[in-house]
Amino acid sequence: MYAKARAHTNIALVKYWGKKNQELILPYTDSLSLTLNEFYTTTEVTFNAELIQDSFLIDGQSVDSKNEQKLTHFMNLVRQQSNCSLYATVNSENHVPISAGLASSSSAFAALAAAASKAAGLNLDQTQLSRLARRGSGSATRSVFGGLVEWRKGNDDETSFAVPVDEQVDFGLEMIAILTDTRVKKVSSRSGMQNVVATSPYYPAWQQVVANDMVAMKSAIVKKDINLIGQIAEENAMRMHALTLSAQPSFTYFNADSLVAMSAIKDLRTQGINCYYTLDAGPNVKVIYQHTDRKAILDALSTKFSKQNLVVSLPGPGIEYLE
Ligand code: PMV
Repeated sequence: MYAKARAHTNIALVKYWGKKNQELILPYTDSLSLTLNEFYTTTEVTFNAELIQDSFLIDGQSVDSKNEQKLTHFMNLVRQQSNCSLYATVNSENHVPISAGLASSSSAFAALAAAASKAAGLNLDQTQLSRLARRGSGSATRSVFGGLVEWRKGNDDETSFAVPVDEQVDFGLEMIAILTDTRVKKVSSRSGMQNVVATSPYYPAWQQVVANDMVAMKSAIVKKDINLIGQIAEENAMRMHALTLSAQPSFTYFNADSLVAMSAIKDLRTQGINCYYTLDAGPNVKVIYQHTDRKAILDALSTKFSKQNLVVSLPGPGIEYLE
């Protein structure tokens, strides 16, 4: 009744922002991401007849009551799907360059889905695993697979899951994470999405933007055209962040250093170095580029940011079972 699994975080190039169904986590739109090798979560789950409730340890610390509720809810889903009615100890470690902040829920719930389902005796295929991970966090749906991954929104629990688009990514696509603040964000993606869907007058336009970007992005990937991938991703990210500014009340995930980073990337472009940026629900900026340009980009960025806050990441793998 024990299993250990690892999942890597992913960064969306075409973003998911908004749930049609909160309980099942069914999104309004498709989305597409890159799984990263540098940031990952390793989780061990042990079901044990002696326990009277689940217990969770994240990076050696017990979790607060809100997270405990979320995690218990997820473990209940695993118990419902399996013949296992026991409680479990869950031990999770996040591998991030510095203390906190990039330990995204994508790797956390993908690793938990894999370890918990296996420990409970379920033998899920990747599609079933993706659907289960989705119940913990939308972005986790995609972390089941490595490389470039599409989450097809579907229209119910059965039909909403991720599929690989390009698991190898052999054309030199890389990312640099510019860490501008690694504290826990003030507006969770859950409440940020709810606010935007309910109040932004631009939400219908966003759904059309994503539909167009998904087609354009998949075609750019087939062509292995990093400039086009970067252009579409940057524009898509800015349009997602425009939703937060147009909500009531308005909010933003940017901080002052996010703006410094974005303008540095644009400056590099005017100097002929092709690089683009994207941001998720937080102030850290991720740079998209071809690996041959890595040194030039790092040299330029290190005049504005300390080297330890510039983390290079390559495409990463999907779920791995350990031991
Ligand atoms: O599913 P969550 O709560 O991790 O929300 C993810 C939201 C974004 O990272 C901004 C976009 C995405 O598609 O991952």
